[in-house]
Amino acid sequence: MKEKIEALKAKIDSAIQETETGRALYELKLKFQAELKSIMSGMRDLPKEERPVFGKVINEFKEGMEQKFEERAVVVRQKELQKKYEEEKIDVTMPGRKYEAGALHPVTLVKNQLIDIFAGMGFKVFEGPEIETDYYNFTALNTPEDHPARDMQDTFYLADKLLLRTQTSAGQIRVMETEKPPIKILSPGRVFRSDDDATHSPMFHQMEGLVVDKGITLCDLQGMLAEFAKKMFASSTKVRLRPSYFPFTEPSVEVDLSCSECGGKGCRLCKGTGWIEVLGAGMVNRRVLENCGVDPDVYTGFAFGMGIERIAMLKYGINNIKALFENDTRFLKQFRD
Ligand code: PHE
Repeated sequence: MKEKIEALKAKIDSAIQETETGRALYELKLKFQAELKSIMSGMRDLPKEERPVFGKVINEFKEGMEQKFEERAVVVRQKELQKKYEEEKIDVTMPGRKYEAGALHPVTLVKNQLIDIFAGMGFKVFEGPEIETDYYNFTALNTPEDHPARDMQDTFYLADKLLLRTQTSAGQIRVMETEKPPIKILSPGRVFRSDDDATHSPMFHQMEGLVVDKGITLCDLQGMLAEFAKKMFASSTKVRLRPSYFPFTEPSVEVDLSCSECGGKGCRLCKGTGWIEVLGAGMVNRRVLENCGVDPDVYTGFAFGMGIERIAMLKYGINNIKALFENDTRFLKQFRD
């Protein structure tokens, strides 16, 4: 029994000195208590008269060891604190980390500017779905299945009659089906076409405008576009309408703005013409009004659609559309409102 106590004492003594953390010390103490308990249970086998003597020995041993545990606890606590201080040391002379402020993407900037300009003329924003049915994207827009105008836009089909919209014009139908004139909506959003070069991307953004009311004429369209051109570009910007064709407008026009680079004299940007084409528009075709349950003998309307990337490229002098999709922050951070 005595030997057992001696052995435990030697073992625990050196183990205490090796502990480095409060947790290790605590675990060691539990181990010590368990072993001590098993030694004490051996007391039952001792002759009765020897028991008090051993009881005393064990008690002293126990008290002595507890004292050692306590002393070590003070040392270990100190060591732990020291370690913590070293790990959490901060060098107050170090330069601060620089956080750069983000900026809005040029497409978002132009989209917001367009909304501001047209909201000032009383337009409300409507956002249609990016996945459309063949009906909303084409058929209701007076472009039936075998219509050659379907070839004007290379469509991504998801399933039979289900596609990624090729134009925000699809939203015109959704609005006219649910709202009664007067209608004055602006519809921004992503559109998709199988097209890819320096000025075309398979995904780009359009801004659609639609006005339907009694007595709306092409002059109203021209007036609003003149206002838009002045606010988006320079106040001297002029608007020119050229005859064109879209199945959902009649008459249809292609809209040019006087070149922002040369002011109309002719330069490389406008290829010497003094004009830059920016959007398609026209008077809403009466068949489209009929498709939506709007009486074309009572109401007339105009619609326009423009590429937001195209406006951004003209406004900021960007010559490759890819720059708008690469998300290179060195390029993007040049655009602050
Ligand atoms: N949706 C046409 C296009 O994507 C543009 C347009 C919109 C033309 C509205 C006329 C009226 O090319």
